[in-house]
Amino acid sequence: MSFRIPEIRYLYSVREWAGLIVRTTRRTGLALRLALGTIPVAKAHELDGLPLDEPLKQTLLRLGRREIAPPFWDAPYKYGGAQYRERIAEVATYCAERWPGDFLEIGCFCGETTRCLSEVAGRFNRRVIAVDPWTTGTQNCSGREYEQFLKNIDPYRDRVDIVRRSSLDAETLRIVQQRALAFALVDGLHTYAAALSDIRMVEHCTGFIAVDDVSYGFEVLLAMRQGAAESKRAAVRIANCREGYLCPKGMQAEATLPRGVERKTAKAA
Ligand SMILES: C[S@@+](CC[C@H](N)C(=O)[O-])C[C@H]1O[C@@H](n2cnc3c(N)ncnc32)[C@H](O)[C@@H]1O
Repeated sequence: MSFRIPEIRYLYSVREWAGLIVRTTRRTGLALRLALGTIPVAKAHELDGLPLDEPLKQTLLRLGRREIAPPFWDAPYKYGGAQYRERIAEVATYCAERWPGDFLEIGCFCGETTRCLSEVAGRFNRRVIAVDPWTTGTQNCSGREYEQFLKNIDPYRDRVDIVRRSSLDAETLRIVQQRALAFALVDGLHTYAAALSDIRMVEHCTGFIAVDDVSYGFEVLLAMRQGAAESKRAAVRIANCREGYLCPKGMQAEATLPRGVERKTAKAA
């Protein structure tokens, strides 16, 4: 049966209904764990509260202020994403200027962001590690994405290390953990468990860890805040922007530390 109106296709699709039930169950479970306090999530701060270099702060705020979605952008991921790649490139540049190591992108899709990261990497003699299984029929992939990715990164092919695997594979973990990282972008599978696992995998990154889609992805936002609580990094949300950031360790003013983390730090000391 084929339907032209997406709502009708949705109504009659067992797969869509099953997906909705799974998502609702997962979300309810997470909400319960939050209410019971078994997930010690950190707060997400505004950029203003952090001891971040003024030029970068201003650049991010400027690139955030221009995020006003025109009315024809209906998909939630398009809100706050107009200058997403410019922001990612700015933050990657900031990191490369301060810390050694390569860039990592988890979830690369057609390589539009990989291309931007590769351009920055070239200026600093770094490499880009691109992790994605590109499995047709899974989240975001319907068939030609890998070919498109190869086309997009072709001018930078010599500085991109492609890891065509799930970020959840043990082998991917092994590969990533032996690389020094200056910047990481987490944009793979958008479930709480997968996003948190990705954040944990890049914990050794010395610079920023960008986490995409936190503005509308409840599970991803929660994973970012849980990652912040575990790693004692500050989690940042910039008004209007789709992505969030986990700051480099040490880049968190006392005042911005969430209470639970302060208590834990004091006890550990
Ligand atoms: C939202 S897209 C990434 C967009 C890309 N970062 C960009 O800025 O253009 C999500 C990607 O995550 C990939 N993905 C899905 N499951 C994954 C997994 N287990 N490990 C790594 N990547 C995964 C999908 O194949 C898809 O290409």
